[in-house]
Amino acid sequence: MRRQDTPKLVATVARLREEIVAARRGKRAIGFVPTMGALHEGHLSLVRAARNECDYTVVSIFVNPSQFGPGEDFSKYPRTLEADLDLLAGCGVDLAFVPAGEEVYRPGHDTWVEVGAAAEPLDGQCRPGHFRGVATAVLKLLNMVQPDAAYFGQKDYQQALVIRRMAADLDLPTAIRVCPIVREPDGLAMSSRNRYLTPAARQRAIVLWKSLQLAGELVEQGERDARTIAARMREVIEIAEDARIDYVALVDSETLQPVETIAGPTLAALAVKIENTRLIDNCILKSEE
Ligand code: PAJ
Repeated sequence: MRRQDTPKLVATVARLREEIVAARRGKRAIGFVPTMGALHEGHLSLVRAARNECDYTVVSIFVNPSQFGPGEDFSKYPRTLEADLDLLAGCGVDLAFVPAGEEVYRPGHDTWVEVGAAAEPLDGQCRPGHFRGVATAVLKLLNMVQPDAAYFGQKDYQQALVIRRMAADLDLPTAIRVCPIVREPDGLAMSSRNRYLTPAARQRAIVLWKSLQLAGELVEQGERDARTIAARMREVIEIAEDARIDYVALVDSETLQPVETIAGPTLAALAVKIENTRLIDNCILKSEE
């Protein structure tokens, strides 16, 4: 049985617009959290941030096909709508927008959003076309919901940067907010994809967080050479015998360009496959100077 405070469930853009018009008539500030579902505490932290700042909260659940490459996990991506709606009910979400694929990409859809340099390195290299799919879906969802503020997680650091760039360049009226990474007690960043992992692989997956922690410790101890830090991070990851590293990168936190020396705020970012599940994580390294 679903709880009384279950969000209104809407599947079409037309119905969504009616609800948004009504909320706006009440002069309510609208907060929006786009997701692909299989919700966890990371998603819910964004919902809570939206609830704190806005009067009316919309969450979308849409597994966006255009951001998955051929051979990626689109078809097996976890779809857990009932459980998701229960979680959203517990957080006081007003509306859950759950469109079908054809509602978002109607026949003849032929317009795509290409963000430039921010979308090129890291996941842009490993997953060609990924950010084009993300940017297009997010822009469409923002146009459908027309929120005052939209909430994203630092877990997907590059994605947040790409969306900020798009919002600035295309004069979007929505404020883009980025919230901290929520982790499991042992440090693994929460992710819908964690549920692919067998218990043994789930154990091994903590090497991602361990390597980021080591990077932070090395910088604290005075190490400034990016190559040295990245090499030490790789050693930690390779303790998991089946780990396949897509990248371990130390980059400028604004431009995502590689740094040689840790001087300003530096992003340590990694993408690693464990048991064929691709996991990403990151943290900001700060040198005191
Ligand atoms: P999804 O992976 O479902 O994530 C939805 C939002 O939750 C993203 O902004 C993501 O950064 C944030 N998030 C995920 N795990 C988190 C964690 N452990 N801590 C904090 N925030 C976390 O990202 C997407 O969906 C899609 O690309 C989307 C933006 C919906 C476009 O299709």
